[in-house]
Amino acid sequence: MQTKKKAEPGDRPLPAHVGIIMDGNGRWAKKRFLPRSAGHKAGASNFRTITRYASQIGIKYLTVYAFSTENWSRPQEEVSALLVLFRQYLEEALRDFAEENIRVRFIGDTSRFPQELRQLIRRVEEASASKTGMVLNLAMNYGGRAELTRAVRLLLQDVKSGVLSEEEIGEEAIAARLYTAGQPDPDLIIRPSGEERLSNFLLWQSAYAEFVYFDILWPDFRPEDLDKALDIYASRQRRFGGA
Ligand code: FPP
Repeated sequence: MQTKKKAEPGDRPLPAHVGIIMDGNGRWAKKRFLPRSAGHKAGASNFRTITRYASQIGIKYLTVYAFSTENWSRPQEEVSALLVLFRQYLEEALRDFAEENIRVRFIGDTSRFPQELRQLIRRVEEASASKTGMVLNLAMNYGGRAELTRAVRLLLQDVKSGVLSEEEIGEEAIAARLYTAGQPDPDLIIRPSGEERLSNFLLWQSAYAEFVYFDILWPDFRPEDLDKALDIYASRQRRFGGA
């Protein structure tokens, strides 16, 4: 078992994979008497800041919860505003990502998005596929339960077609059929906004993740707050079920 010593600045065990539930955009806007879409805009801008910072400090995998399978039930106006922000970000990524060494991947059922957005998603994935730096997983129309349901269907198909035998069904076979196949599980999951729940995010993958909650709304979450979360992570002892 690896024991964790107290973190010194610049000398702390970094998590390989960090997940962030970007929560609190609506409340941020409400506090300012602004429409919820203004909160999402501020959240999207902060997403860019935190993503760049995470890449700079050497995080290898960052997964952000941008749109859940349940978010379609929000007012049409809000969903549309979010889709516009996604499109803007993806267009920007195509334009400016040449200098960034970030590989963008999408996790979730992106087939439900409008065709134009789906095309952008494909182009961004292709354009960044050869990058060797941080992998940024954008969870869009993502839900942990939907992901597991999909994995079960894929397993069944593979058993039916003879690719996999029934005896081979195990944790590895399941993990290999998740959107995050081939990636390490998240070590640390951060949720700003004061809510302390997982909300269907990386259900399987977060089995042994450390959780850090912040009473800060996502648009106000600064790189220093990410540093604070990393310090908290470094000070924790992970036992993975051992003594
Ligand atoms: C949760 O806050 C946030 C979302 C459902 C959307 C997250 C999206 C962004 C931060 C924009 C991301 C943009 C890109 C380009 C990836 P909430 O609306 O539930 O806040 P509330 O709980 O205060 O109402």
